[in-house]
Amino acid sequence: MDAQVEVYTSAWSVTHDEKNFHNPYEFIPSRWLDPLSRDIKHASQPFSLGPRGCLGRKYVFLQPELAWSLQALTSLGCCQFRKR
Ligand code: HEM
Repeated sequence: MDAQVEVYTSAWSVTHDEKNFHNPYEFIPSRWLDPLSRDIKHASQPFSLGPRGCLGRKYVFLQPELAWSLQALTSLGCCQFRKR
């Protein structure tokens, strides 16, 4: 194969391959938190990679922190929403 050829892999196929994830057809959210897991987690790239990868990726990771910070500030009385 020529070095200039781009190769694309189906994200679904990669994440449903037992070589990468155990019980790949089961919904096991804890697989992402288990430090002893032998799953190859970087096989999952939900935001894609490379120059055409997701531009919103950093925002997506930041957004929950912004929500939690706002909730904490509100509960401490540090900021309030105006009632209309
Ligand atoms: C969990 C949420 C998200 C996921 C899983 C996701 C995933 C992706 C993926 C896989 C692509 C590449 C699509 C392709 O190959 O054609 C992409 C592209 C893109 N995403 Fe996201 N995205 C998310 C949220 C967002 C958000 C919140 C924004 C904007 C604030 C955003 C902006 C973009 C843009 C502008 C592109 C096009 C990049 C380009 O073609 O150069 N995404 N996203």
